[in-house]
Amino acid sequence: MLEHWLLDPDCTYLNHGTVGATPRRVLQRQQAIRDEIERQPSRFMLRELSGHQPMPWRAESRVREAGDRVAAFLGARPDDLVFVPNVTTGLNAVLGSLPLGPGDEVVVTDLAYGAVTLAAGAVCERGGATLRTVHLEYPIRDAGDVVEPIVQALTPRTKAVVIDHVTAQTALVMPVADVAAECRARGVPVLVDGAHVPGSRPLDIPSLGVDWYSGNLHKWAHAPRGCGILWAAPERQPALHSPIVSWGHNQGFRAEFEHTATSDPSGYLAAPEGIALLHEWNFEACVTYMHGLAWEAAAILSEHWGTAFEIPRHMVGAMVTVPLPQNAGATDADAARVRLALLVEDRIEVQLHAWRGRLWARVSAQIYNDREDIARLADAVARRCRDGSKGCQP
Ligand SMILES: Cc1ncc(COP(=O)(O)O)c(C=O)c1O
Repeated sequence: MLEHWLLDPDCTYLNHGTVGATPRRVLQRQQAIRDEIERQPSRFMLRELSGHQPMPWRAESRVREAGDRVAAFLGARPDDLVFVPNVTTGLNAVLGSLPLGPGDEVVVTDLAYGAVTLAAGAVCERGGATLRTVHLEYPIRDAGDVVEPIVQALTPRTKAVVIDHVTAQTALVMPVADVAAECRARGVPVLVDGAHVPGSRPLDIPSLGVDWYSGNLHKWAHAPRGCGILWAAPERQPALHSPIVSWGHNQGFRAEFEHTATSDPSGYLAAPEGIALLHEWNFEACVTYMHGLAWEAAAILSEHWGTAFEIPRHMVGAMVTVPLPQNAGATDADAARVRLALLVEDRIEVQLHAWRGRLWARVSAQIYNDREDIARLADAVARRCRDGSKGCQP
């Protein structure tokens, strides 16, 4: 499948999850949209795109047409979903709209993505509220290991729980619906960071029972970079505002996020092409392949490196995070050195980080990857750990 991407065939690319990689056909579609915009820029941007000015020749704006296709893919009602440039923006919108005052609390876990924790901390600071970070033990073995510590952290002043659907560094599929059920029973709303979910596993957002869900389409749903979604339950929409105040201010959920000043809309409008590809390539079969390869990668790497992989299969999606041998190092500097050596000398791109006293590799299993890619990484790290001079010396 590699031929469907522009990816350098001389590089073993095991890092799809970080910034995605856009298939050729979606990029071609995006370019065609850009060309169309440039033929009559004002007409496209002011009328076709958003219907901001009359467009009697169209029933629906281009952004809504694209949004409707994306909503259908995610099981959502079109009215409950908007485009955002990325999940960070979507989560910031929700966090910034929380009515926080002194004594209020927002709950996150210590497996959350760092920038999201920073955003939650910033809104708490602004409102005089407290950010409560729940420690999760690792390895996690079942839903209770996530749900119980979160429930214990809830108080009558908890204004929101922020939970990842798939965690960033640890690549764990989290029991979001279980967390939501417990929180709902206590009247606490739940915000989900679904950065890695659309396109990597089946997703029906309303069935999760959460209040807000933001996800990226540019990671696994083959959209151009700079394309994500924000979904909000109908009862949450009136109090939810775009961080950018513009012409849609107080005009309703969709309008607020559709009129956010001038930017290149081609990524949003090309998103349906990515979804069309997912369907053409048999989405179910792709999910099965990616998950199977990720699971196999865990076995191959942990065996080769003599390390323990202790995550249950149902918590693995299209990525897997495996510990490196202890002599690979333990610090951020060690991680940076090994990662650079792998990239420059072995031509392998993989997410590698220091966490809880050792190094870890997070491997993405996209449909253009195969077992040979995993074997190459397994050998390269094992070789470096035998030969300390080559980038694995503690
Ligand atoms: C769990 C999680 N949340 C948020 C993000 C941020 O994504 P973006 O930079 O597209 O907003 C990432 C990026 O990898 C992530 O893994």
